[in-house]
Amino acid sequence: MSGAAAASAAPPRLVDPFGRAIAYLRLSVTDRCNFRCVYCMAEKMTFLPHAEVLRLEELDRLCAIFVGLGVKKIRLTGGEPLARRGVMTLFQALSRRLRARELDELTLTTNGSQLVRYADELAACGVKRVNVSLDTLDPAAFAAISRRGSLTDVLAGIEAADRAGLKVKINAVAQKGVTEDCAVPLIRWAHGRGYDLTFIEVMPLGDVEGEWSQRFLSLAELRADLAQRITLAPTPYRSGGPARYWQVEETGGRVGFITPMTHSFCDSCNRVRITCSGRMVLCLGAEAAVDLGKVLRESDDDRDVEIAIREAVAQKPKGHAFGSSEARAPRASARPISLTGG
Ligand code: 5AD
Ligand code: SF4
Repeated sequence: MSGAAAASAAPPRLVDPFGRAIAYLRLSVTDRCNFRCVYCMAEKMTFLPHAEVLRLEELDRLCAIFVGLGVKKIRLTGGEPLARRGVMTLFQALSRRLRARELDELTLTTNGSQLVRYADELAACGVKRVNVSLDTLDPAAFAAISRRGSLTDVLAGIEAADRAGLKVKINAVAQKGVTEDCAVPLIRWAHGRGYDLTFIEVMPLGDVEGEWSQRFLSLAELRADLAQRITLAPTPYRSGGPARYWQVEETGGRVGFITPMTHSFCDSCNRVRITCSGRMVLCLGAEAAVDLGKVLRESDDDRDVEIAIREAVAQKPKGHAFGSSEARAPRASARPISLTGG
């Protein structure tokens, strides 16, 4: 095949103005969740009207278009993705793309509470890994953070995922006054079970109760605190995302640190996010977004959606603004993480 023919067979990949190829899509399938984590949602959260949320077939169509444009990895998020009724039909549709090798990886981020029910089905759909959000093993602290979650359900869910053969990764949001005490038991527990664990700095997203500055714990501070109790050594290991890893001598496992608030890791960003209403968010830390849902609903022609996607990618910012001086006295973004996906 000549070079020109090859080029026309494969549509040009999505590359942003800074030369970053977009191969990773995070798709929020619902803004709803059965928890109300204090850093994520307000107690009395207002959710999107159902009519604005894309139907599962619409989400699948969107994924197909992105796959056609070179996206190789899709992560379903929320809100809580497994709280969306019928979500397994979307996993099944995407699993066919995995089998056809159009997609390399299908994963999800979940609060774990529904995994007892879904772990086997997820594994059957070709899901190999699952990120479970879990900040603490202390039942009272867990209840205070999640406001309506049950630690027992989450631990049972993690167990079920493990049994189903899914590789579990734990994500913990670092919070001042909470994580200092919870971190070491969490690390020992996760590593004892062979799970990777990553801490993430809390980002000022959404309109939640309380002051962000009261909640914020920098991971440099957390690491200094941890170093009093366990032995940490930096490692060059990279998982392809923004985390930096440290080896824990006592457990033999590694701990990841994601520091959106204190360091920029945007140079290698290969991801875009879509909200459950089809708004394409170019960066968690910037307001830029493009309404693909509208284009999708107005046109049956996928090429119209492709054009909108390319226009959107052309707007991807070079980096986020969290670390800038105004973000240090954090100014909350109006867009909650439950809409955009974690
Ligand atoms: N800052 C950082 N991480 C957050 N998450 C939710 N809200 C925030 C925030 N404000 C994480 C949680 C959640 C996942 C979807 O994103 O781990 O479960
Ligand atoms: Fe990419 Fe934005 Fe995240 Fe930076 S903050 S890594 S640009 S999504």
